[in-house]
Amino acid sequence: MLIKRPADIKSSEITPERVYFNRRAFMQGAAAAGSLAATTGLYYLFAGINRRPPSAPGPRPLATVIPSDPALTTEEPPTDYDDITHYNNFYEFSTAKHDVAYESQALVTRPWTVVVGGLVNRPRTFDVDDLIRLFPLEERVYRLRCVEGWSMVIPWVGFPLSGLLKLVEPLGAAQFVAFETLHDPKQFPLQRSRLLDWPYREGLRLDEALHPLTLLAVGLYGKTLPNQNGAPLRLVVPWKYGFKSIKSIVRITVTDRMPRTTWREAAPHEYGFYANVNPQVSHPRWSQATERRIGEFTRRPTLLFNGYADQVASLYAGLDLRKFY
Ligand code: MTE
Repeated sequence: MLIKRPADIKSSEITPERVYFNRRAFMQGAAAAGSLAATTGLYYLFAGINRRPPSAPGPRPLATVIPSDPALTTEEPPTDYDDITHYNNFYEFSTAKHDVAYESQALVTRPWTVVVGGLVNRPRTFDVDDLIRLFPLEERVYRLRCVEGWSMVIPWVGFPLSGLLKLVEPLGAAQFVAFETLHDPKQFPLQRSRLLDWPYREGLRLDEALHPLTLLAVGLYGKTLPNQNGAPLRLVVPWKYGFKSIKSIVRITVTDRMPRTTWREAAPHEYGFYANVNPQVSHPRWSQATERRIGEFTRRPTLLFNGYADQVASLYAGLDLRKFY
């Protein structure tokens, strides 16, 4: 992946005083929140990375958000909203993480159609708002571990992918699920380049796709997804490296073949289909033993399956995790 090695991350990219924008802090009062927002805003203003074109609509509050099953959400403090929304990988827009927020503001996310088909009894084409209305929206606070060696904690809002798959009824022959991002070079400037083989594609085994942790996210921090985080609909698979969590999805196809996936095709010796977080399997160019949690100063150990081993290890019983990385 085109990345900055951890050693190349300048100290100026780290906010001097971390201000947690978590719900508890938020509830402590509007005055405190106002001053937090001003502090954070000033930081980004001076850093020159909070440049939203004035015409772009910002994220809107999401109506019904039900708390999640405590077994499916972490109590760890969420990463700052500004970090989650200004340190992004979205190669259709830019390879520079701090530029994605600005470059993505013009993406038109309504109307938006999601085609769900393949080996299913009931293929359907959804308007994204109709799709979102079909499911109760849950908040799920998940760790996100990027293959590059950084991590965040993100309070997503969404619904389990299993709900959608059950609706379309996979056939007995189904074994995998394939996902595709919108292909529209007019809106995604780097789709005019040959940086990757567009559109961005990802895939899961059917049992991974049906796992209760596997989420279709439509928001974060109680609001609709900012464009840079994959509006209007993206996948989140918290025990796998972040590149599996494909953004701005328009097509979901149930299939009997292992799907083509973008990074595996770009560099098969570096990125596998499974991409399960594993501190013992190094990337050919760097170790995966530790990670930098955005907002922290020292590195911390990376956990097998990103700390979700209790929930997901059984999916891989008998599989050689070094061979199927
Ligand atoms: N999806 C698309 N369509 N294009 C991308 O470049 N980057 C992936 C993933 N999904 C990517 C994508 C990578 S490498 C990561 S780490 C996560 O999105 C980052 O998600 P975030 O920007 O919301 O933190």
